[in-house]
Amino acid sequence: MGTRIFYWTGTGNSLWVARRIGDELGGASLFPVAKSKGKNQSVDSEVVGLVFPVYIWGVPAPVIRFVNTLNGLQPEYIFAIAVNGGQVSNTLIQLKKVMASSGLSLSAGFEIRMPSNYIPWGGPGPREKQRELFTLAGEKISRIAAGIREKVPMAVEKGPLWQRIIFTALYNLSFSRVPAMDKKFWVDDRCNACKICLRVCPASNITLREGKPLWNHQCEQCFACLQWCPRQAIQYGKRTPKYERYHHPEVILKDMLKSGDLLRKDVEPMRRP
Ligand SMILES: Cc1cc2nc3c(=O)[nH]c(=O)nc-3n(C[C@H](O)[C@H](O)[C@H](O)COP(=O)(O)O)c2cc1C
Repeated sequence: MGTRIFYWTGTGNSLWVARRIGDELGGASLFPVAKSKGKNQSVDSEVVGLVFPVYIWGVPAPVIRFVNTLNGLQPEYIFAIAVNGGQVSNTLIQLKKVMASSGLSLSAGFEIRMPSNYIPWGGPGPREKQRELFTLAGEKISRIAAGIREKVPMAVEKGPLWQRIIFTALYNLSFSRVPAMDKKFWVDDRCNACKICLRVCPASNITLREGKPLWNHQCEQCFACLQWCPRQAIQYGKRTPKYERYHHPEVILKDMLKSGDLLRKDVEPMRRP
């Protein structure tokens, strides 16, 4: 069974989930959404998967743009996994609609809870709790893989109705504001201009000015720049100096750089729809 799994990730949770599901299915190939650069994808795999984090209770903009590049694809089975910090809300219902408008039929959509990387609201939680989440995620991935192998169509997973009503309104309100939310990033005096933030940013949104990173308002809010800064010199708003940084313990910086072809210097920033 040929399986192609596309993933978007800021701190490696979704990459880890994509890898695990790929291993369970056997012989799956993984491809980073950040590397697609808006080009139409021609995929001849029987099974196509999409693994991505939930952002502001919905589908991240680069994932929406990416789905549009799959227009006309007709694999036998399409599955999605929305990796989240505990509130998947309406994300997979939204994705199903986005796919339908590109002529794609989502066969099954699952949510998987992992440590939260939304650092403005706090750190990822105690290590023991993180390990517990990884174990539960691994168990769920095995169950999901069994259904995918049999190509079982399933209703998408969703949060409670109150969440879907209130949080979808918040998603819609904030969606167009996300690119400029990078105004809150700043660097403290530990920054030594190592440029890792530039290289790890999947939106190519960061440049250096006078030896300091400058965010150019094409942000996707993935927090890769802040979370992967080796000196913890990047901050967001007032509270992040006191919060612990996070990335998935089995994902390393090199995996992230590969994810976006980010060793290239000439990539254009990705545009929102
Ligand atoms: C901007 C932003 C918004 C987020 N919004 C949500 C959310 O609405 N619900 C939720 O459960 N988790 C939310 N999270 C947490 C992430 O979905 C979660 O930590 C995910 O595992 C990160 O995946 P990654 O490591 O592949 O980037 C958010 C994270 C970020 C950075």
